[in-house]
Amino acid sequence: RTVYLNGEYLPEHEAKVSIFDRAFLMADGVYEVTSVLGGKLIDFPGHAARLDRSLTELGMRNPVSTDELLEIHRELVRANDLDEGLIYLQITRGAPGDRDFVFPDPETTEPTIVLFTQSKPGLADSPSAKKGLHVISIADERWGRRDIKTVQLLYPSMGKMMAKKAGADDAWMVQDGFVTEGTSNNAYFIKGNRIVTRPRSYDILHGITRAAVLRFAAEAQMEVEERPFTVDEAKQADEAFITSASAFVTPVVRIDDTPVGDGTPGPKALRLREIYLEESL
Ligand code: PDD
Repeated sequence: RTVYLNGEYLPEHEAKVSIFDRAFLMADGVYEVTSVLGGKLIDFPGHAARLDRSLTELGMRNPVSTDELLEIHRELVRANDLDEGLIYLQITRGAPGDRDFVFPDPETTEPTIVLFTQSKPGLADSPSAKKGLHVISIADERWGRRDIKTVQLLYPSMGKMMAKKAGADDAWMVQDGFVTEGTSNNAYFIKGNRIVTRPRSYDILHGITRAAVLRFAAEAQMEVEERPFTVDEAKQADEAFITSASAFVTPVVRIDDTPVGDGTPGPKALRLREIYLEESL
């Protein structure tokens, strides 16, 4: 694989970063994941805009312009002959040469920027979209700024492991009785003609796929209600689903031990998936 590191395209085994990098020592970095279908980037402008917002919130500088970033994405797709898959991008506060809680001087410490591709043949046609997901509910024990897409993913990783141990696919996290989001996706239920999802705040990541799907809801003759909801409401809904750059729209068919609707992927969630893929390509 050809990867990108700080201005250079390199074979992956030649791309090396410092042990003092602040992402390694302190999870002091942000990331984005953009999907690629038929060699085309999906929702790139949204991901670039959120990257800038994450960096600004953490007082970090973007070492590349949005135009340069687009060019790097395209070059990696080309160099790796990527048809279907993902592009991972990470920017960290850099490697000041020692460990210190205080941020290094941005004048003397350059950010680290890394991009690599992940090939995922069949991403758009994945079996989990046809089968639907089983999610469990777990406590949300992450920090309080989930709107910033940091690389601090230990709790989401633990959540996925809890799900795996329970024989499920993923976990929905719950705070003060209300669902926040999935470990790496936004969470929704459908009742009648209404899509219900938690409003944007510090409590959740402002999903780029979320924004697109809510925009396309009208095309599926559906209404959107942004409000906090409980696990029980979702269990009693007609349908449930998640969204993310890697899952697009994927139905949820079981929450804890309760089937949602008839326990198979719902027609409205599948229609939203279809519209999202059509509109994004
Ligand atoms: N995760 N919520 C969380 C906590 C996420 O990590 C993600 C994305 C989303 C969905 O955001 P978007 O639609 O912009 O992908 C919501 C990525 C895919 C990941 O960590 O791999």
